[in-house]
Amino acid sequence: MENIKSYVQQHKDRFINELIELLKIPSVSADTAYSQDVIDTAEAVKESLSKAGCDYVETCDTPGYPIIYGEKIIDPNLPTVLVYGHYDVQPPDPLELWTSPPFEPVIKTTDIHPEGAIFARGACDDKGQMYMHVKALELMVQSNTLPCNVKFMIEGEEEVGSASLAWFVERNQEKLKNDVILISDTGMISNQQPSITTGLRGLSYVEVEVTGPNRDLHSGLYGGAVANPINILAKMIASLHDENNHITIPGFYDKVQELSAEERAEMAKAPFSLEKYKNALNIADVYGEKGYVTNERNSIRPTLDVNGIWGGYTGEGAKTVIASKAYAKISMRLVPNQEWEEITELFTKHFTSIAPAGVTVKVTPHHGGQGYVTPIDSIGYQAANKAYTETFGVPAIPVRSGGSIPIVALFEKELKSKTILMGFGLDSDAIHSPNEHFGIFNYLKGIETIPLFYKYFVELSK
Ligand code: BES
Ligand code: MN
Ligand code: MN
Repeated sequence: MENIKSYVQQHKDRFINELIELLKIPSVSADTAYSQDVIDTAEAVKESLSKAGCDYVETCDTPGYPIIYGEKIIDPNLPTVLVYGHYDVQPPDPLELWTSPPFEPVIKTTDIHPEGAIFARGACDDKGQMYMHVKALELMVQSNTLPCNVKFMIEGEEEVGSASLAWFVERNQEKLKNDVILISDTGMISNQQPSITTGLRGLSYVEVEVTGPNRDLHSGLYGGAVANPINILAKMIASLHDENNHITIPGFYDKVQELSAEERAEMAKAPFSLEKYKNALNIADVYGEKGYVTNERNSIRPTLDVNGIWGGYTGEGAKTVIASKAYAKISMRLVPNQEWEEITELFTKHFTSIAPAGVTVKVTPHHGGQGYVTPIDSIGYQAANKAYTETFGVPAIPVRSGGSIPIVALFEKELKSKTILMGFGLDSDAIHSPNEHFGIFNYLKGIETIPLFYKYFVELSK
């Protein structure tokens, strides 16, 4: 532990500068304008793995963006840790809300990060967290303390649904064989209270298109006489929740795994301040499904949210028009054991059925994935908990997260191994938002904690 600490102290400026270089490349997977940058980022990741001490690295071509694979096999009889992460990032918009440009990383202090945080798109999600693993490997190789085999699989399409990764995993089961999968792409409660993510929500993401008249119409000449697709879409969307904020799609809750009173009581023990939560978001009150508290609403309960809605005239000034079409992007966060494909079907059937005769509705599924829960008595969980306990001075609390990493359920199905979600981000790090950042404290703590996971995982596996 002292050796780990001193290595990190000695090399921390370089660790920070290397991450800053990686953050400068705008690897936005959702926007093809950035495709060369995404590919360049993949190459930079590959080079960093080589330099850190992988014996073998490979750019694996896929139907989409490449997957970077790396490994260091020291003894086939020892356990193998498979590290997964992603080098792609979310689009940076709205640009005007950033206090410094998203791809020009700078270190600034905040109330929560008095020792500074790196501000850039991808700083926390997931370049910064992924890179902790690269530096932890360097540390273990340089100090001769790598206790087992390690494989890396770093993809470039996580933010758009991981289609190529699913393709890759199905075709490379032997290559990816491992004893545990280790991911840092989630968060923890606070810098004083670490937590380990024991659950992720699933996802069904759809786009809807409502079409009324065959062309845009004068809203005076036709207003009141034909169905306005935007009015209708708004009405249809509003009807998807009832007065208790339950989702009204028939069959939606049929497979939802309900938690026992004991499990809910256990969850309620995690430190949480509703006042702080509201203040941080500048809202007068929270809002959600009746019968559940905030930390349940955002983790163990399924949801339906509009992510974007558009149509008609949105330019400057006023134009009197009834648009021919209206659109929305809708995500449903799912919980075990909801099947995402089935939910997509239920949504499509219901949404089409509630449309009045004056419009037609088209539903296009985007992507989806299953939720995930992991037990806390596994060797992997115990090893992670020991590692956090040592670096933070207090044990980690198990927490189910509301976010999704759809590929995790597929890993379990295809590779038959458990995933340990060792996240070091904070909810306040603004992932997917303007001014995303990652604390220097968190980055360096991650690099310190990861080698201890390896150590305890190997010890407990004996
Ligand atoms: N790293 C996040 C997921 C996450 C963040 C889980 C924090 C738990 C805590 C990941 O990059 C992400 O954004 N996933 C998407 C899903 C994907 C299919 C676009 C999400 O959750 O919206
Ligand atoms: Mn991520
Ligand atoms: Mn993300």
